[in-house]
Amino acid sequence: MENRKTALVTGGAGSIGAAVAARLVEDGMTVVLNDIDEENVKGITNRFGGDMIPLAFDISDPEAVLRMVSKIRNDVGPVDVLVNNAGILSSNKIETTPADEWRRVLEVNVSGAFFLSKAVVPDMKQKRWGRIVNICSLAAKSGGITAGTAYTASKGALVSLTFSIARETASYGITANGISPGYVKTPMITEQLSQKKQKEMLSQIPVGRFCDPEEVAHVVAFLVHPLSGFITGEIIDINGGLLFD
Ligand SMILES: NC(=O)c1ccc[n+]([C@@H]2O[C@H](COP(=O)([O-])OP(=O)(O)OC[C@H]3O[C@@H](n4cnc5c(N)ncnc54)[C@H](O)[C@@H]3O)[C@@H](O)[C@H]2O)c1
Repeated sequence: MENRKTALVTGGAGSIGAAVAARLVEDGMTVVLNDIDEENVKGITNRFGGDMIPLAFDISDPEAVLRMVSKIRNDVGPVDVLVNNAGILSSNKIETTPADEWRRVLEVNVSGAFFLSKAVVPDMKQKRWGRIVNICSLAAKSGGITAGTAYTASKGALVSLTFSIARETASYGITANGISPGYVKTPMITEQLSQKKQKEMLSQIPVGRFCDPEEVAHVVAFLVHPLSGFITGEIIDINGGLLFD
């Protein structure tokens, strides 16, 4: 890439976020790595020196988002690439989902991405270049095979948010796309799904294994590349053939 870009990756203490950040540094970007978990996000950035900068805040707090995006603008430069990756999983189905769980999942998985996108779009518009990638989920269109109701609905909303941003910003050189992974080898799967459920899911995935976080990072790298400027409002599935459409 000609000019060094600044990327903001949320939920970077998690397996997918950390893999995305590592890949974007490898591709020549300066990455600001956000997470609500300050200790773990610092642990990850320490391995990368100055190319990866930790920034702990809660993405569901709109004031914190504005403050932090402004801090990034001052300290590093305007955000060119935003990867909305932070997310929380809940497995309760409709009859057992408490109201506060519903609100929290929507707040982090949808409102967080909305607040951040809203905060970075003005700078992207001014530069007439920007990339927004939302990490959605297979749950959005499968109805949530193992995921719960709040999570599934939140990822559906994130898909529609992606479409809305894509339509609104396309003429400014900004693209907004989503990636819908299914069953990535992360604690979300290895710790939150029973061994029995994991075996059952593996038997249904045609590729015969779970996805590696680096494979999701590869799709992010593809979408944020300058040559991907004609792709917007697209949701790329990465699910080993579990669901075709
Ligand atoms: N693991 C999978 O199989 C899978 C499948 C489909 C989609 N996804 C999505 O991929 C993304 C990353 O998943 P992962 O498996 O790496 O999960 P993870 O739980 O390992 O990572 C998510 C990170 O988000 C952070 N986070 C949570 N709430 C936050 C907040 N309010 N502000 C800032 N950070 C916050 C957590 O601390 C955590 O480090 C999520 O959006 C998830 O829904 C994962």
